[in-house]
Amino acid sequence: MASKKKACAKAGIFSLEVDLDKDITQEKLIEEIKKLNSDNRINGILLQLPLPKHLDEHAALEAISPEKDVDGFHPINVGKLYIGLDTFVPCTPKGIIEILKRYNISISGKNAVVVGRSNIVGKPIAALLMKENATVTIAHSKTQNLPELVKNSDIVVSAIGKPYFIKGEWIKEGAVVIDVGINSVDDPSSPKGYRLVGDVEFEEASKRASYITPVPGGVGPMTIAMLLSN
Ligand code: GUN
Repeated sequence: MASKKKACAKAGIFSLEVDLDKDITQEKLIEEIKKLNSDNRINGILLQLPLPKHLDEHAALEAISPEKDVDGFHPINVGKLYIGLDTFVPCTPKGIIEILKRYNISISGKNAVVVGRSNIVGKPIAALLMKENATVTIAHSKTQNLPELVKNSDIVVSAIGKPYFIKGEWIKEGAVVIDVGINSVDDPSSPKGYRLVGDVEFEEASKRASYITPVPGGVGPMTIAMLLSN
């Protein structure tokens, strides 16, 4: 939350953090969201996920006014994205498309595999890649032939949250690898005792990939940039 607030301040965007009690009731949460819906100072609302277990995430996201839904998580905006209408696009997927376009990486006709089927990354990036005319496969924890799928892919997007899950040797020569994972692994040699790594075996994969995003520093900063853009 701190980095989002800092980025807003830097861009001259007024931001307000509403810090809610972790034991808040569903009713009170909806009430807080409705207050922001009708607050004229506020154009965009982001409900930080995940919510505590006792809360209904779908109902809470649906309470956000679709016109202020800068995460693009309201069912109306999710539906608009799927049928190809202009709408709020979820920030991480929007950032991924922005990276591909800024580096002039062609998407049309390419085989893309998306590893992970979350509502935040996997499903929306698959919709966006499809919109850009890629042939998209969505893989997930029950997928049986992941190495083969990755080996056949020109674009690999991994968003599963498991360190080094995607092996470097699976990457096709010249493929483009977008690593959305942010995983903490023990590292006694680091001052903090841990370090952040992606889902992909970076060293091995970078020998084969034409482009690969690092972790930290690749997709992460783009997410905040796209939040501000929304
Ligand atoms: N938690 C992890 N990623 C996100 C995101 O993009 N938006 C929100 N609201 N919560 C998240």
